[in-house]
Amino acid sequence: MVKIAFNSALAQKALGKEVPAAEKDPELASAPVGIEGSTGRCLLTLLGIAFILSGLIVGGACLYRYFTPKRMYHGAMQFSDVSSGGESQPYYLPQVEEEVEISDSMAVISVPPPRFRAGDPAYILHDFNRKLTAYLDLTLRTCFVIPLNTSVVLPPQDLIDLFSQLMSGSYRSYLVHEDLVVTERIDDIKPLGFYIRRLCEGKDTYRMQRRSSLPGGGIQKRSTDECFTIHHFENKFVTETRICKA
Ligand SMILES: *[C@@H]1O[C@H](CO)[C@@H](O)[C@H](O)[C@H]1NC(C)=O
Repeated sequence: MVKIAFNSALAQKALGKEVPAAEKDPELASAPVGIEGSTGRCLLTLLGIAFILSGLIVGGACLYRYFTPKRMYHGAMQFSDVSSGGESQPYYLPQVEEEVEISDSMAVISVPPPRFRAGDPAYILHDFNRKLTAYLDLTLRTCFVIPLNTSVVLPPQDLIDLFSQLMSGSYRSYLVHEDLVVTERIDDIKPLGFYIRRLCEGKDTYRMQRRSSLPGGGIQKRSTDECFTIHHFENKFVTETRICKA
């Protein structure tokens, strides 16, 4: 049906120009072959269109699945470290700044290198569906994976609310220490899901545990050369994550 309309339009155009189009145009020339031939071609064309459309729909759904609407936020939090003798910082409170991308299924936090203290720049990814967190240390170019701690990481909507509040001014908070230990190397990162795979592809990747959950836990080794820290927040307090290669 589409084809017929198209052909008549062509014919009209040809008439206007007074060109014997029927002899030049193979489409028009073959038109008198019969109704069966043209319905066949019409069906084929429709099939082709249906095929292309279904491809577009499936492709679009896949793209949507992985690139769901996500929003970028920026926030800063000042914090006081009570454990290092609280009142000793009267003039200046350290501050953590973050860029965060939040969607329904994950949050990626970009931590820039801190300006006045030790700490590594990093990407931190929380996969809310797989319940996993990955730290990509940008200095070491190494990934560290641990189960998502839902009592530290706010769910997506609460994170959005928090960052919306932070837009209108900086926030004073406190520091929570988190002590993690590298346990084993992960050779196959596929089971960690699409997002972590995308983040950690081509980097050394390790599994971690909380130090307190290790057998005989709590005993802290004092070799600082194998440790590094990342300051970040995904709640109303700042977390200092210390990662040690045991
Ligand atoms: C989550 O983090 C809190 C605060 O750091 C800690 O007390 C708790 O043990 C953690 N939970 C898990 C399952 O690791």
